[in-house]
Amino acid sequence: MTPPDQPLTLPATPGPVGVFDSGYGGLTILRQIRQLMPAYDYLYLGDNARAPYGAHSFEVVYEYTRQAVELLFARGCHLVVLACNTASAKALRTIQQNDLGRLDPTRRVLGVIRPTVETLGSLTRTRHVGILATAGTVNSRSYELEIHKLYPDITVSQMACPMWVPLVENYEFDSPGADYFVRKRVEGILRADPEIDTLVLACTHYPLLMNKILKYTPPGVRIVPQGEYVASSLRDYFQRHPEMDAQCTKGGHCHYLTTEAADKFAESATLFMHEPCEAERVQP
Ligand code: DGL
Repeated sequence: MTPPDQPLTLPATPGPVGVFDSGYGGLTILRQIRQLMPAYDYLYLGDNARAPYGAHSFEVVYEYTRQAVELLFARGCHLVVLACNTASAKALRTIQQNDLGRLDPTRRVLGVIRPTVETLGSLTRTRHVGILATAGTVNSRSYELEIHKLYPDITVSQMACPMWVPLVENYEFDSPGADYFVRKRVEGILRADPEIDTLVLACTHYPLLMNKILKYTPPGVRIVPQGEYVASSLRDYFQRHPEMDAQCTKGGHCHYLTTEAADKFAESATLFMHEPCEAERVQP
């Protein structure tokens, strides 16, 4: 990955859709995107060597995310989805405002927060919503601010779940040990606001803990993973922007990049994606 301000040579020909996450979590978004739009080519990048991002400062998350976007652009992507709430909360706007102009003003970077927030108005009846996320996303207050822009009547409670990403990254999401950490946070947020009827999994790793989350969520409280909403919002984006659609190749292929060991990533990705995945290691 390149240091800032170093000129990049970007291929002008059409390429795959880039999907980025700090680690494996973005695969939950990629799965849904591919289900909805199987014709496109995808290039996934997991920065597993530097995950989790959740507790890193704004500066560090921005720096890592910018490097990832530049790498995906250099590999031919014209559109990159930040399939990571922490990166969407802490880096998306700066990249859109400060970096795209320098890199290539025709390329685009999209996040996952806005498409998720847009759906909430029709999902909650009590108008009390809970956000489960990394400390970085919670502290950025991005969800609270975005929700109140669209739905000022919704009461928002947030809860950081600092152990959940490490449970996924270390393949402990189905272990008995995960029960303690999942129960603590689900019960915690519902105790803080018993009127919550909608719990947003505002971290792309969290759907991989779904079995445990459901176990501790009372009936009547809806769990909202983001993949479906991000996927349909991306499809809408392509319909509204045929010029970007034309820059995305459609061979139905998916390739995986990781900053950690390729075989380790391939093994986990194969399990998460329910299909054989091969990975290539890139330098962070
Ligand atoms: N999947 C990332 C998110 O949605 C996890 C962040 C992390 O690495 O802590 O926020």
